[in-house]
Amino acid sequence: MELRSIKWGSPLLSDIAQKITPSATLALSARAKEMAAQGHDVIDLTVGQPDFNTPAPIVEAAFRKVREGATGYTPTPGTTELREAVARVFGDDYGLKVSPENVIVSPGAKYSLTIAMQALLGPGDKVIIPAPYWVSYPKMAAMAGAESVILETTMEDNFRLTAESLEEALDDNVKMLVLNNPSNPTGVGYNRRDLEKIASVLSEYPRVWVLCDDIYRKLVYGSFKHLSFAEVEPDISSRCVFVDGVSKAYAMTGWRIGFTVGPKELVGAMTRLQGHSTSCPAAVSQAAALEALTGDQGCVQDMLNAFTSRREKMLQRFSTIEKIEVIPPDGAFYVFANVERIIGMKRPDGSVISDDTELGDYFLEDAHVAGVPGSAFGSPGHLRFSYAASESRIMEALDRIQVSLNKLD
Ligand SMILES: Cc1ncc(COP(=O)(O)O)c(C=O)c1O
Repeated sequence: MELRSIKWGSPLLSDIAQKITPSATLALSARAKEMAAQGHDVIDLTVGQPDFNTPAPIVEAAFRKVREGATGYTPTPGTTELREAVARVFGDDYGLKVSPENVIVSPGAKYSLTIAMQALLGPGDKVIIPAPYWVSYPKMAAMAGAESVILETTMEDNFRLTAESLEEALDDNVKMLVLNNPSNPTGVGYNRRDLEKIASVLSEYPRVWVLCDDIYRKLVYGSFKHLSFAEVEPDISSRCVFVDGVSKAYAMTGWRIGFTVGPKELVGAMTRLQGHSTSCPAAVSQAAALEALTGDQGCVQDMLNAFTSRREKMLQRFSTIEKIEVIPPDGAFYVFANVERIIGMKRPDGSVISDDTELGDYFLEDAHVAGVPGSAFGSPGHLRFSYAASESRIMEALDRIQVSLNKLD
């Protein structure tokens, strides 16, 4: 017997299943991997995860705990020890009074964000998402039944949401603003003045929650310091939901641990959603995350040092490439390059590169370098290059891009 085949668009699939298209970032890195498997020397700069192994003490702690029997279900919102540790870290870092009941641990920050939206949003609600945005936000909003309102930001504004455009977009149906600080894909972070202005607009709209995706907050560069509304405008913090995790700062993407800090009632609602969907995050991963948060933080600094050096070299090399414009990222590990001046140029065969997706394809085919087209993040005319790769590979990638660019007319 054969399993039934279902055509795309068939009513056998739910409405929501048909709305959720595959992630463009994952699709591109899949193509880059496919080409590498065919024997091409592909430099994949689409990656959204650190290229380091999880630090050894974290791995050891996980093994130890499993040997001691941590192999069963844990409480739905996470183990008491881990919730206490998250409460302590957030309390210290954000200057907030946080108790373990304000914390829910989930299988990855992606799931934290998903159930935070499901707990707060429904049909008729609008979510403001500044573009460029991380690809999953609009899909998560759709899964919660809500409507996304995409607010474009510009390179002139450093890709930061302005108080003016926020004010214009706010109406009685808006129930949430998503603020990713520092941002994927731009790396841009919000300073005190930006946050104060946004907070002042939000103070007129008490119904609006702010979903603060702070997953890159520990990966920041130069004089930039991550700030949250809790430190800048405490009045707003009572309606902030803070999301963080161990994936990026501790090189633990595969362990799948994210945290949410918010009001107890919200944490309760998210716990019910999580209980009926995943039961709890994996016990072994929670043990590893506990070690990450409570152990020696030198590992974060080591990775940060490597990212800092790569970032500098990448920015320096980009500054020599005519037609590509970048702004220095404050955090994360991406450079969001403006490639508008290349679009419209002709390939060696005379055909025109008509958009960022075609340019991404051209670089992949010709230079064997993969970056993610800005249109995947709601901002066409750009390519996102990750610096979660070795310095030598990054430099070689940019050299190859230069060679491919020289072939365009
Ligand atoms: C902006 C942003 N938020 C959240 C996540 C999800 O992180 P996690 O691996 O913990 O689910 C990512 C991962 O790419 C991200 O870039």
